Amino acid sequence: MPLVSMRQLLDEAAKGGYGVGAFNVNNMEQIQAIMEAARETQSPVIIQASRGARAYSQDRFLYHLMLAATELYPEIPTVLHLDHGNSVETCKSAIDMGFTSVMMDGSLLADGKTPSSFEYNVQVTKEVVELAHAKGVTVEGEIGCLGGIEDGHGAGGDGLSHLTDPAQAEEFVKLTGLDALAIAIGTSHGAYKFTKKPTGETLKMETLIEIHKRLPNVHLVMHGSSSVPKELQDVINQYGGKLKPTWGVPVEEIQLGIRNGVRKVNVDTDNRLAITGAIRKVLMETPEKFDPRDYMKPARDAMKKVVAERMVQFGQAGHAKYYTPVPLTEMADLYAVPV
Ligand code: G3H
Ligand code: 13P
Ligand code: ZN
Repeated sequence: MPLVSMRQLLDEAAKGGYGVGAFNVNNMEQIQAIMEAARETQSPVIIQASRGARAYSQDRFLYHLMLAATELYPEIPTVLHLDHGNSVETCKSAIDMGFTSVMMDGSLLADGKTPSSFEYNVQVTKEVVELAHAKGVTVEGEIGCLGGIEDGHGAGGDGLSHLTDPAQAEEFVKLTGLDALAIAIGTSHGAYKFTKKPTGETLKMETLIEIHKRLPNVHLVMHGSSSVPKELQDVINQYGGKLKPTWGVPVEEIQLGIRNGVRKVNVDTDNRLAITGAIRKVLMETPEKFDPRDYMKPARDAMKKVVAERMVQFGQAGHAKYYTPVPLTEMADLYAVPV
């Protein structure tokens, strides 16, 4: 089937009461790992690319790899989503290239670091909603800012400085008409989220529950949702890596989120850890090897394992068969009907 809109996936997920993992990609092996995991678990899936990923793959390589994915895995409902679009222009260029969903992250200014004003956020998000919905493309916005800056997106700090205000979230949704809302509840991008297992003091699940109570029909998005499992850290360190001890978001907290309106769960770091650990292992154990396939295959397998595990944990496994793709033109007609 063709790439589908994220709105269709999230609406289905809400009906079924499950979450959908949104996994970041930069290259062929990562796309293959996700599609194989989706086939094995029969899952609908969101594949997302950041601005960095688009630059790395020169955009067109990525797009054509995604077309190959839809050709080779026709039974898997697949979304191509822009992660953390920093401006209206970035979102527009993604829509023009064929992304079926975009994130306008107006919680930060275009530099991806400076927290913006509420008015700026409403204005840019609304502008993207207008141009995206006219083409049937889904829009994710963000209110409140994630912490961390190590991978270039985030307001810095520990994730607690710019938490989402539930009343403001309600206002933001009303003013923008977006499809999915990313919220800040204490998570950060990257491996270094928490210095110990998070508690209610550092991971604000109560705020999420309060937002869901105010916005029961809005699809919520959890960014920075890698669990950073110790086993993956250990493989890297066992084979010459130097990761400091760190904690991510426990899967049971994500599952609590899913029971409270979370439909999209962003995971990148766990896959990066799995890939790097697998490559380090091959290179350390068999230093005579130099064929990239000797380490890229285990890396791809390691990522597939993580993704398949998350698909089962988030509840999307087994749901691929329930989709009849709605063409983007039809989505555009639906958006055009006043509510
Ligand atoms: O939002 C962050 C994702 O992990 C993507 O990171 O900008 O390094 O590709 P990136
Ligand atoms: P992690 O760094 O926790 O994987 O978060 C990824 C993310 O939020 C991408 O937008
Ligand atoms: Zn993110």
